[in-house]
Amino acid sequence: MKTTPTFQRLLPLALGLTSSAFAAPQASDITSGIISILPTGTSVFPFPSPSDTISPIPPNVSTTVIPSSFSSIATSIVSSASATATGSASIGLPTPSSPPVSTPPSGGIAINDTDPQYAPLSEFDKNSLALVLHQEYIELDLFYTGLSRFSDAEFEAAGLTADDRYLLQYMAEQEIGHAQMVANLLGSNASQPCTYRYPFSTVPQFLDFSKRLTRLGEAGVLGFLSHLDSRPVAALLSQTVTTEARQQMVFRQLQGMFPMPVWFQTGITQSMHWTMLARYIDTCPDGTQNLAWNNFPGLNVTNEPELSNGNSSSTGNSDDADGGPAVTRNATQPLSTPGRNVTLSWELPGQHVGWNNSFTTATAAGEPKFVAWISQLNVTYTPLTITANQSGTTTQPGGEIFGNGPQSVVERFGNHSAPIVNATVFVAITDEDTFVTPFNLTFLDGHIVAGPTLYTSG
Ligand SMILES: *[C@@H]1O[C@H](CO)[C@@H](O)[C@H](O)[C@H]1NC(C)=O
Ligand SMILES: *[C@@H]1O[C@H](CO)[C@@H](O)[C@H](O)[C@H]1NC(C)=O
Ligand SMILES: *[C@@H]1O[C@H](CO)[C@@H](O)[C@H](O)[C@H]1NC(C)=O
Ligand SMILES: *[C@@H]1O[C@H](CO)[C@@H](O)[C@H](O)[C@H]1NC(C)=O
Ligand SMILES: *[C@@H]1O[C@H](CO)[C@@H](O)[C@H](O)[C@H]1NC(C)=O
Ligand SMILES: *[C@@H]1O[C@H](CO)[C@@H](O)[C@H](O)[C@H]1NC(C)=O
Ligand SMILES: *[C@@H]1O[C@H](CO)[C@@H](O)[C@H](O)[C@H]1NC(C)=O
Ligand SMILES: *[C@@H]1O[C@H](CO)[C@@H](O)[C@H](O)[C@H]1NC(C)=O
Ligand SMILES: *[C@@H]1O[C@H](CO)[C@@H](O)[C@H](O)[C@H]1NC(C)=O
Ligand SMILES: *[C@@H]1O[C@H](CO)[C@@H](O)[C@H](O)[C@H]1NC(C)=O
Ligand SMILES: *[C@@H]1O[C@H](CO)[C@@H](O)[C@H](O)[C@H]1NC(C)=O
Ligand SMILES: *[C@@H]1O[C@H](CO)[C@@H](O)[C@H](O)[C@H]1NC(C)=O
Repeated sequence: MKTTPTFQRLLPLALGLTSSAFAAPQASDITSGIISILPTGTSVFPFPSPSDTISPIPPNVSTTVIPSSFSSIATSIVSSASATATGSASIGLPTPSSPPVSTPPSGGIAINDTDPQYAPLSEFDKNSLALVLHQEYIELDLFYTGLSRFSDAEFEAAGLTADDRYLLQYMAEQEIGHAQMVANLLGSNASQPCTYRYPFSTVPQFLDFSKRLTRLGEAGVLGFLSHLDSRPVAALLSQTVTTEARQQMVFRQLQGMFPMPVWFQTGITQSMHWTMLARYIDTCPDGTQNLAWNNFPGLNVTNEPELSNGNSSSTGNSDDADGGPAVTRNATQPLSTPGRNVTLSWELPGQHVGWNNSFTTATAAGEPKFVAWISQLNVTYTPLTITANQSGTTTQPGGEIFGNGPQSVVERFGNHSAPIVNATVFVAITDEDTFVTPFNLTFLDGHIVAGPTLYTSG
């Protein structure tokens, strides 16, 4: 096995630093890295000028492309659009004499901001970015570690070709870009990379861990993006988190799993994110600023469903991922189903976690009573049965995102819905079954006894 820590050599270089001590970017760097990626002056998407040739839109729209199973509303939207368009030669195409553009609709925020500030505006923003920077650094380290720890033969044995390995390398390079950008946003408050501990020793385990870690990064950013004080910062982070989501899907594909068995990607709170990330950070350099988020006590699923090629323990509840990487593959046998008995064990508060064990786990919740399943748009609770001190069981819930109703939904789209619990979902032990929705998930933080952790349901 190769052991060269490639990334430690590459990172300072890639971030434009001359010393391996990785000097934190100075305040003057805050915008310089950003400005260079943003267009200046000219419009990126110019409106067509009168002299441009524009192919006419066909005056009628065929309805044959609409799947026949689609219900009446879809058809009626199409047919009314078609009716409007039929025979009309003047459906908004500018002619040389027409006024250039319509007045924008009212509303929207900072649409014509001439000097957007790409910097945190509050401690909330700063601590969210600091958390993201730790996430970007560990991903960067992880991808290079995987590439250097395993031989080509070990990758080939897991079905990964040289092209696949280059994709891994490219993902590491994406993390250089993300780390650079977030460090620029934080200026002199940006932390430096740390050392990490990883729970994998085979290529399949590396892929599985990478899938989980990118899932964590994706959900962590989605959870706070719309709560940031700085919208310019949110705009840039949106552009990293969508890349992160693609990485997460690629890891599922490299595992030969169905790439995206959900309709919505869920978000979690910063304290949930930090709880899960902290356990993989070993040491950070002197001067690394502490994060203001909480670390909840740790939670483990002790009978996690495993891919048959997961190769890490014997609980093997098979999915059909033995065929190696695939763009998509039907699972003929689901990895798990509703009603499955899930066993859990958790820690008491007061454990030292995170870099240099500098953080102490804490909870504000009462007695453990429920298991919260955070997935898609929903938080679903199942009762927890205590079996011993800090251990218990629950059952994997069913439930559909939109139920099989209400009737208005059925009328609009037909009887289509999707199971809430699929892919990697977040589970936590709570003291209450507090009703929360994606934008007020933070209310859950006060009720977490332990966790969350990830449960691979499919
Ligand atoms: C659409 O217009 C073309 C050309 O006028 C005509 O041949 C065709 O039958 C029309 N299709 C429909 C679905 O109306
Ligand atoms: C910016 O847009 C708002 C809302 O449309 C408008 O009221 C305001 O006058 C605009 N400011 C400038 C400088 O264009
Ligand atoms: C670093 O954080 C401190 C405390 O939040 C803040 O006062 C300072 O302005 C920050 N520096 C930069 C460059 O953002
Ligand atoms: C998850 O989605 C996959 C792909 O659609 C499906 O095969 C599987 O049965 C689903 N699992 C559950 C628990 O619904
Ligand atoms: C963490 O521990 C390492 C190794 O002992 C040490 O070099 C580093 O300065 C420590 N970091 C902090 C933030 O105390
Ligand atoms: C699975 O584990 C066995 C025993 O540790 C090892 O020999 C084998 O190479 C592993 N398979 C994969 C695909 O990693
Ligand atoms: C894949 O699963 C879908 C949904 O169950 C099914 O309709 C389709 O026939 C399956 N395709 C194959 C090739 O098994
Ligand atoms: C779930 O599994 C645990 C551990 O094997 C067992 O003690 C418990 O009785 C099971 N619960 C149900 C409902 O099957
Ligand atoms: C959870 O799993 C981790 C990693 O295997 C282990 O170190 C820890 O002791 C476990 N904690 C509990 C409460 O099961
Ligand atoms: C739980 O822990 C307490 C003290 O720590 C002990 O007295 C008790 O026997 C334990 N209960 C179980 C079910 O293990
Ligand atoms: C899941 O969340 C959606 C959106 O809030 C809601 O419409 C639906 O009823 C929820 N499903 C369940 C089973 O709670
Ligand atoms: C969260 O928001 C939902 C509405 O989307 C509301 O019904 C619920 O009471 C809120 N939860 C809390 C704890 O305030």
